[in-house]
Amino acid sequence: MRFLRECEILRHDHVALGHYRLVLHAPEIARAARPGQFCMLEVQPGYYPFLRRPMCFERIHGDTISILYKVEGEGTRLMSLLSSGQRMNVQGPLGKPFPLESGYERHILVAGGIGIAPFPALAEAIIRELGTAPEVIIAARSRDWLLCADDFRAMGCEVHLATDDGSVGEKAFASEVLRRLAPGPGSIVYCCGPLLMMKATHVVCESFNVPCLASLEAEMACGDGVCLGCVIQAKVEIEAERMVRVCYDGPVFDTRMIDWAAY
Ligand SMILES: Cc1cc2nc3c(=O)[nH]c(=O)nc-3n(C[C@H](O)[C@H](O)[C@H](O)COP(=O)(O)OP(=O)(O)OC[C@H]3O[C@@H](n4cnc5c(N)ncnc54)[C@H](O)[C@@H]3O)c2cc1C
Ligand code: FES
Repeated sequence: MRFLRECEILRHDHVALGHYRLVLHAPEIARAARPGQFCMLEVQPGYYPFLRRPMCFERIHGDTISILYKVEGEGTRLMSLLSSGQRMNVQGPLGKPFPLESGYERHILVAGGIGIAPFPALAEAIIRELGTAPEVIIAARSRDWLLCADDFRAMGCEVHLATDDGSVGEKAFASEVLRRLAPGPGSIVYCCGPLLMMKATHVVCESFNVPCLASLEAEMACGDGVCLGCVIQAKVEIEAERMVRVCYDGPVFDTRMIDWAAY
């Protein structure tokens, strides 16, 4: 079930350099949403910008959803100017969520940059529904771009920090931290971030023979499986197609089904 609703902005905070958190009153969307799904936001009324912007759910709490976002271009710049009390048109929830599978001892979340965005909701769901706290690797360019570390610690997660410049945590890539943590049998990895970081994470998971679920990004127009603007190349066929839609068949994919050689 998906909805198209005018949602009131309850809070809109600047949380780090170029990053904001938007809290929206969206009761029906919140009730239907699962971690890993996303919504399409109309950043302002009218036809500019023409397309909605896809954003995943950072948290899903009661009647509210929160969106953690980075200002990338014109749409997110306009979004950052919105104030509490204004309303936004929201379509969602869309896409397939992270499957929550029991039977794993270790759940390891690997995030690069704003790829952290879907993980607070996922960590809360893993704790609530599977009764175990995930380990979280958060990687960023430097300390100014590290997000949510204290939120995960407050949930009881073990947090590993990595930065490109070594300003906080290890001077390492997220995939290198994952390799050091040695995910063994009984582990499952979830990742989100830049494509190359997810590809490197997939390679580490393959070497340990553990499953890896990635939340992929693609530029989207309809967000709902119709325009074929968001396709990526898969190794296996979905509905007799090798080109799969990130918005509809994903955005969460088992990384073993992605044709990484194409990227
Ligand atoms: C399923 C999904 C969930 C997402 N969730 C979040 C989130 O929770 N928080 C967040 O900050 N961002 C998220 N994104 C990325 C976000 O949608 C884009 O950053 C945003 O649409 C850029 O809009 P803009 O108008 O500011 O930039 P534009 O002016 O449209 O583009 C600026 C730059 O960003 C690139 N870009 C545009 N759209 C995307 C995209 N979808 N993915 C990657 N690069 C893009 C463009 O190529 C260009 O280089 C998500 C994307 C997808 C597909
Ligand atoms: S954005 Fe239209 S099919 Fe995915």
